[in-house]
Amino acid sequence: MENIKITVAENGPLLVNGTCEVTKIDGSIDIKEKVTAFCRCGASNNKPYCDGEHKKNNFVG
Ligand code: FES
Repeated sequence: MENIKITVAENGPLLVNGTCEVTKIDGSIDIKEKVTAFCRCGASNNKPYCDGEHKKNNFVG
């Protein structure tokens, strides 16, 4: 089993490094590889993924 590394980016997304399966609200599944950025700020228009909106909102966290 592959190890997955998770990093909290300062004032940004949660970075998941490794292959992972993401089940979304509608039940669809994405297979993500390498680095996947998940929104922590709540402002993304592409949840659960980060789309860079945290920069516009000056997210702190
Ligand atoms: S953390 Fe990047 S858009 Fe929310």
